[in-house]
Amino acid sequence: MKIAVSGKGGAGKSTVAAQLVSCFMLQQMPVFAVDADPDANLGLVLGLDPEKLDSLRPLAELEDVIEAKNFGGGTLVDLNPDVDDVLDNYTLQEGQLRFLKMGAIKQGGSACYCKENSFLNAVLTNMLLDRSEAVVLDMSAGIEHLTRGTARGIKMMLVVVEPTRAGLSTALAVDRLAGDLEIEQILFVGNKIRSDADRAYLEASLPSERFAGMIGFSEQVLERARRGEPLVSTKQDLLPGLEKIYDQVCRR
Ligand SMILES: Nc1ncnc2c1ncn2[C@@H]1O[C@H](COP(=O)(O)OP(=O)(O)O)[C@@H](O)[C@H]1O
Ligand SMILES: [Mg+2]
Repeated sequence: MKIAVSGKGGAGKSTVAAQLVSCFMLQQMPVFAVDADPDANLGLVLGLDPEKLDSLRPLAELEDVIEAKNFGGGTLVDLNPDVDDVLDNYTLQEGQLRFLKMGAIKQGGSACYCKENSFLNAVLTNMLLDRSEAVVLDMSAGIEHLTRGTARGIKMMLVVVEPTRAGLSTALAVDRLAGDLEIEQILFVGNKIRSDADRAYLEASLPSERFAGMIGFSEQVLERARRGEPLVSTKQDLLPGLEKIYDQVCRR
C-alpha cells in the first residue's frame, strides 16, 4: 500500500501521515515514512529522537552519493542506477519503520532536470514501484516530488482539509495537481472537525463520494504534540475516525 498525504500547511498532513504509519506498525507491517515536505516535521510527529533526526541527511543533499552513482553525468548515463543501498543507509530505522527525508526539489527552467532531482526520482521509483513495503509520503501542497511516472505507484492520495475557505482552496488546488499526475484515487480527509457546522461546511463544498472520512479535533493529539510524545502507541491512541480511514484505504 502506497499512500501520499497532502494539504495546506498546518492542516494536519503530518498528523494523518504519522497515524497511518502507526496503523501499519501496529499490524507489524514494514513501512517507509517519507518526509517530502520542506517544512519537515513528520519525524518529530512520529516521536523519533530529535538528535537522530537532526543528523539524518535529506536525500537531496547526498552530493557524494549522487556523484558516486553518476546521476545525470557522463555520456553513458545509467538511467536506472541501483538505489536500494540508499534506502538501507540513509534511513532512520526503528523496528518495522524506516524514516527518510527527501529534501527540496531543485527548481529550474523546463530544460533543467538536474542530477539531484533525477536521484530523488530514482529513489521514489524504487520505493513506489519496485518494493513491496508500505509507503506513506508526507507532502507539501505543491507535491513537486511526484512525476507522472512515480505517481503511478501511488494507490491513493489523501488531501487533508480543515473546514475553512483557505483550507478548501488549497485542497482543491492539490486535487487539480494530483489529477494532472493521474493519481488513481484522490480523496479528501476533513480534519479538526469540532462541530456539525464544520462537517456540513465540508460536505457542502466537496463531493461526498470523494471523502475518505472526517477526523474530529482532538485535545489528546494536541497535548501529545506539545509534549513531543509519539502520537500512537496502541490502537486506542488512533484519532477518532482514523481507523475507519485506514480500513478504507486498505480495502480500496
Ligand atoms: N485532529 C486534530 N486535533 C487536534 N489537533 C490537531 C489535529 N490534527 C492536527 N492537529 C495539530 O495541528 C497542528 C498542525 O498539524 P500538522 O500535522 O503538523 O500539520 P501539517 O503537517 O499539515 O503542517 C499540530 O499542532 C497538530 O498537533
Ligand atoms: Mg507537516
